[in-house]
Amino acid sequence: MEIMKSFDIKTKIYFGDDALDRLSQLPYKRVLVITDPFVVRSGMIQMITYRLSDADCEFEVFDDVVPDPPIEKISIGVKKMVQYNPDAVVAVGGGSAIDSAKAIKDFASRATGRTDVALIAIPTTSGTGSEVTAFSVISDPENNKKYPLVSDSLIPTEAILDAALVKSVPPAVTADTGMDVLTHAIEAYVSINNNEFSAALAEKAIEICGVFLLRSYLDNNDTHARKKMHVASCLAGLAFNSASLGLNHGIAHAVGAKFHIPHGRANAMLLPHIIEFNSDINKHSKSRSEYLPAVKKYVNIAKLLGLSNFNTITTVRSLVNWIQFMMKEMNMPMSVSQCGVDKTEYFNSIDAMAENALNDACTKTNPRVPSKVEVVSILKDLYDEERW
Ligand SMILES: NC(=O)c1ccc[n+]([C@@H]2O[C@H](COP(=O)([O-])OP(=O)(O)OC[C@H]3O[C@@H](n4cnc5c(N)ncnc54)[C@H](O)[C@@H]3O)[C@@H](O)[C@H]2O)c1
Ligand SMILES: [Zn+2]
Repeated sequence: MEIMKSFDIKTKIYFGDDALDRLSQLPYKRVLVITDPFVVRSGMIQMITYRLSDADCEFEVFDDVVPDPPIEKISIGVKKMVQYNPDAVVAVGGGSAIDSAKAIKDFASRATGRTDVALIAIPTTSGTGSEVTAFSVISDPENNKKYPLVSDSLIPTEAILDAALVKSVPPAVTADTGMDVLTHAIEAYVSINNNEFSAALAEKAIEICGVFLLRSYLDNNDTHARKKMHVASCLAGLAFNSASLGLNHGIAHAVGAKFHIPHGRANAMLLPHIIEFNSDINKHSKSRSEYLPAVKKYVNIAKLLGLSNFNTITTVRSLVNWIQFMMKEMNMPMSVSQCGVDKTEYFNSIDAMAENALNDACTKTNPRVPSKVEVVSILKDLYDEERW
């Protein structure tokens, strides 16, 4: 018997050309804009502020956001928010800015008791899907840890998907964030909490990545591809908000926190290893009568990408090969050693990273329960550039 489940989308999503015009209609009077310093420096902030002025909103801008936001920056933001007392927060930036805004708003509301503050999330990368999720990933640099906070109170009230904001994303960030989208969709699809609703969202996100990720990497002016990837990022966010993620994110958080590898890049390097682990299929595997439960799902994913092959083993292999092909085409490092991480320091950290990965909230929904020895072995393989 299945236990009762539910599915909802709490965030109202505005998308398409000129979606930013929603800002001119905001019913709020006092807005705190929380943003990435890049958005201010590049002048992109004006696309936000002139519309807030149109809506007769008073606003202040807080741009003390850094990649992989640490607790210390969140506290500074909380002070600012308590002092300004806005009725809405507008978060503009990549996952780091949106996650910062989510945590700042949540901690400030605990301090003031005010729970009616709206959160409008406007992504400038096509990656995390944070604009629709209950997750906010906060770093603890002293202990080399990343904590995914998960709470319904973190879910944004509105999300605005306007691809005009992602035009300036440089190719390396397009590659990293695009592979994050793919990892979200694949992990949600094979998660033990997957359901028909999350699967539908994940399938569409995977299909879009297959057709449009490389195109948006190769040409910043391919607006059609960028618009599609912006929507895919949100679809994948909705999928994992319902089904959660898996070991890929658990290990990526641990490695990213210790060696400051961009989140999507860490995920991409891990994907081939995690697919092999979850399916128990590697390049030496032979056909058998029974496969692990995730295998059927990986085969479906390969079919969605047009990679179906003549048997189960070769189909899962072709999915792994396609991921490696995408990474090579986008000039991404394939292993930790190619990221310039010192071998001794890395190997000395494996034990602690394995512990952190096993304790990460994302790991709980992985389709195959990993032991510490298995996580250690994946971490060792992740260093090796000769492997592929
Ligand atoms: N909350 C969630 O659901 C969730 C999911 C996955 C990842 N995350 C977290 O999100 C963070 C990563 O977010 P991200 O991948 O979007 O990267 P990011 O926000 O850290 O941004 C990466 C870089 O791109 C720059 N940038 C952002 N928008 C740009 C634009 N339009 N043009 C040019 N440069 C731009 C930023 O200034 C930064 O230097 C990590 O901390 C990760 O752990 C959160
Ligand atoms: Zn991610």
